[in-house]
This record gives sequence, C-alpha cells and structure tokens, in this order.
Amino acid sequence: MEHLRLGVNIDHVATVRNARGGDYPDPVRAAKLAEEAGADGITAHLREDRRHITDHDIERLTEALGVPLNFEMAATDEMQAIALRHRPHAVCIVPEKREERTTEGGLEVAQDENRLAHFIAPLREAGSRVSIFVAADRRQVEAANRIGAQVIELHAGAYCDAHAEGRFAERDAELARLRDMATFAHSLGLEVHAGHGLTFETVAPVAEFPELRELNIGHFLVGEAIFVGLGPSITEMRRIMDEARSAA
Ligand code: PXP
Repeated sequence: MEHLRLGVNIDHVATVRNARGGDYPDPVRAAKLAEEAGADGITAHLREDRRHITDHDIERLTEALGVPLNFEMAATDEMQAIALRHRPHAVCIVPEKREERTTEGGLEVAQDENRLAHFIAPLREAGSRVSIFVAADRRQVEAANRIGAQVIELHAGAYCDAHAEGRFAERDAELARLRDMATFAHSLGLEVHAGHGLTFETVAPVAEFPELRELNIGHFLVGEAIFVGLGPSITEMRRIMDEARSAA
C-alpha cells in the first residue's frame, strides 16, 4: 500500500497562544517540530474571525516550512485573495460558521456547484491542489469531482463522535460509509484524504483504507502533547497509522 501521509494541524497551538495574547506558544515552532517528528505536511485553518491562526502565521509558515502547507479556508473572496497571494501547496475548502466551535459538517457542494467551480478555478491555475472537505455522501463527492477539485477530504467527525460516545453500531456504520466513499471517490480519479476528530483509538480502521493518501489530525495531537510532548504524540500517531497499514 502507498505511504499514508500525516498532515498535522497546528491550529490549537495558536488557540493556546491567543488565550493570553502575545507570541507564546508559537505555532510555527510547533510546525517545525512536527516536521522533525515525521509530519508529511502542516495544516492550518485561517478562520474568518482569526480565532486561532492569524494572517501573520500563514506568512511565516509559508516561509518556514520544508513540507507542504495545506491551507484550510472558507470559500470567501477574502480567503481566495490570501490563498492566491501565498500559493500554498494545497487549499482545502471547508464550511465555516461563526458560532461553531469547530468545522461541524462537510461543505454543501451539490447545491453551490456553479459558484464553487468558479471559486476554485483560479486557485488551481495558481498551482494549488484544491481539496474539498465533504461528508461521506455520494452526492457531495460527485459534485466535488464535477467542479474540478483534485482531492476530497472525508469528514471523519461522525465516526469519531460515535466512538467517543460509545454508540458502536453507529460508529461501525459511519466507518463503512467512509470506506465506501473512499473507494467511490478514488474510482472517479479523486485523491482521497480524511480528517476531523481522529485519535489513537480511532485512527487505525481509517488508516487501513487502501485508497486513502492523507490524514489531517490536530486537536488530539496538540492535546496529547500536553502530556507527552508534541514530538512523541506525533511519533505514536505515525506508528499506529503505519502498523494499521502494514497489517491490512
Ligand atoms: N481536516 C479538516 C478539513 C478540518 O477542518 C479539521 C479541523 O480544523 C481537521 C482536519 C482536524 O481535525 P481535528 O483537529 O479534530 O484533528
């Protein structure tokens, strides 16, 4: 099986920094550490309200990183202009609501196809790989393919929430949905990623999907770093992913 890339999302290093203002802890330092610990890429979400990552962080990440930057953003004109200025390796389009604590669902692509097709075209022309964050839903995957996205990232949140809440039959159904959509998206020629809510406990069954090329993981890794350090937290995630992949 192909190597499964690990993208480390550093948003919540910035959340801790912003709790006190100032510069500490620095998400760029975390990104460099993640790189040393084996991250294949760094993900950062510049939200409209700048609650964690800031414009300056994106500038500094663009300069400092030796691995690709996956720039997460909402489909707004402001974010498009920022992406076109920095031309990150990848742009992941996510839905965004001010009142949400985190990205709650996948993007509604099917009902917004024309606008999104026009929105992503310049990003592609600028050389960024465009990824769309979608629920494991055939309609959305087909629409993402039609608008010209090269990648989809499947929202693993429902699977992870069901696991955390002990709803194991639902968890298994969500996992099967993710697996089917990974196969379907791959058959359309899309590159398949997944993320949101993954932990040491939930990552292995997803890492086994042969069509999967990348996982993006943040909150759990940063939380675990409080106890064991960021490097060991990432190394352990990498180990579980690799083990699941070689056993599959
Ligand atoms: N992928 C996408 C598209 C996301 O929006 C997020 C959360 O910002 C993640 C992955 C990472 O999720 P988590 O922080 O729960 O690991």
